[in-house]
Amino acid sequence: MIVAERVVPPRVVAAERVASEVGFKRSCSPEVGRLLRLAAAAKPYGIIAESGTGSGVGTAWLHSGLGADAVLVTVERDEDLARRAADVFTDDDRVSVLTGDWRLLERHAPFDVFFCDGGGKREDPEGVVELLAPGGVLILDDFTPSPHWPPRFCGEVDELRLFYLTHPALDATEVLTTPTSSVVVAARRL
Ligand SMILES: C[S@@+](CC[C@H](N)C(=O)[O-])C[C@H]1O[C@@H](n2cnc3c(N)ncnc32)[C@H](O)[C@@H]1O
Repeated sequence: MIVAERVVPPRVVAAERVASEVGFKRSCSPEVGRLLRLAAAAKPYGIIAESGTGSGVGTAWLHSGLGADAVLVTVERDEDLARRAADVFTDDDRVSVLTGDWRLLERHAPFDVFFCDGGGKREDPEGVVELLAPGGVLILDDFTPSPHWPPRFCGEVDELRLFYLTHPALDATEVLTTPTSSVVVAARRL
C-alpha cells in the first residue's frame, strides 16, 4: 500500500523535470498532488481548472485523475512556462494550457474542480467562488496550520483563509498535507 502511495505519474515526473530545467521552485507538493488527483477522479465528466500552471506539476497530478470525458484547463501568465508546460500534454486534447491572466478561465466556467494556485486566490476571492459549479470543489494550498480560531498567520488573523472557510456558499475545511502545511478544500453548495 505504501509503495502504491508513492508512485508518481510519469507526466508529473516530466513536469518536475521542466521545473528543474528552468529553476521553477513553486510546484505543488506530492501530498497536494494526490489530493488534486482525487478531486479530478471524483468528477469524471467534469470541467477541471487550475490557475497558475507553473511548469505543469499540479496540472499533471490533476491529469492523472482525469476521466475520459472530463476536460482540464489551466492558465499561466508566464509565456515561457506556459509553453513548456503545454509540451507535457500535447498528446491529450482534453487538456488546454492557456497563456495569460487567470481571468481567461472565466469563459470555461463553471468548474467542477478548481485548483486556484496563481491568480484569483488573493485578488478576487469572491470571483473565485463564483466560478464554481454547484457541488464544485475548490482547492487552495500553501497555508500554514494554525491552532487558533480564527486561524492566524504571523500573529495576525488570516482573513483570506477565514473568507474561504466561512463563505456562506461553501462547505469548507482545512486539511493538513504535511505537519507544517495545509490546504483549504471547499464544495460549493447547490
Ligand atoms: C504556485 S505557482 C503554480 C504551481 C502549480 N500550480 C503547481 O501546482 O505546480 C503560481 C503560478 O501562478 C502564476 N500566476 C500568478 N499570478 C497569475 C495570474 N494573475 N494569472 C495567471 N498566472 C498567474 C505564476 O506565474 C506562477 O507560475
